[in-house]
Amino acid sequence: MKTTAFVSALLASLLGVHSVAADSAGEKEYMIACAGCHGESAKGDGPVAAVLNVATPDLTGLAARNKGTFPFEYTLFMIDRRNLIPVHGDDMPIWGDRFQASATSQRGETAEMVARGRMLSLVYYLESIQQ
Ligand code: HEC
Repeated sequence: MKTTAFVSALLASLLGVHSVAADSAGEKEYMIACAGCHGESAKGDGPVAAVLNVATPDLTGLAARNKGTFPFEYTLFMIDRRNLIPVHGDDMPIWGDRFQASATSQRGETAEMVARGRMLSLVYYLESIQQ
């Protein structure tokens, strides 16, 4: 029994450390790649939003717009966009392509692994700022 409790505590602390690290990496990424349009507050009020043809969504309301549950896969899909059929007036960049093209491997990671990691850290960050 003691071992089970110890293992659970260890897992919880490992997971805790992991998500904090993911959030801060995601926050940095967000401020560089996304804040221009979605705003530093993520409420859709970045300086570039004013010149777009379509409204820039409030990313702190993803959970609220989905009946209170953060739409993890939908958010990842909307950031990646490589499998999204382009629609008229679509101004959001295809981050899956961009992150893959700019990936540099130092330890044998493939560009796809690097791109997915960057997109996942963004999803964790967005999940952490839901209102
Ligand atoms: C050039 C402006 C621009 C940039 C930069 C940008 N976005 Fe967007 N984003 C948009 C627009 C406009 C939409 C809504 C229309 C659409 O989906 O294309 C959108 C939609 C989204 C959605 C779907 C929201 C919903 O409610 O359906 C998510 C999630 C998102 N963006 C995340 C991001 C992330 C994360 C980044 C940074 C990696 C980013 N965006 C960078 C303009 C931008």
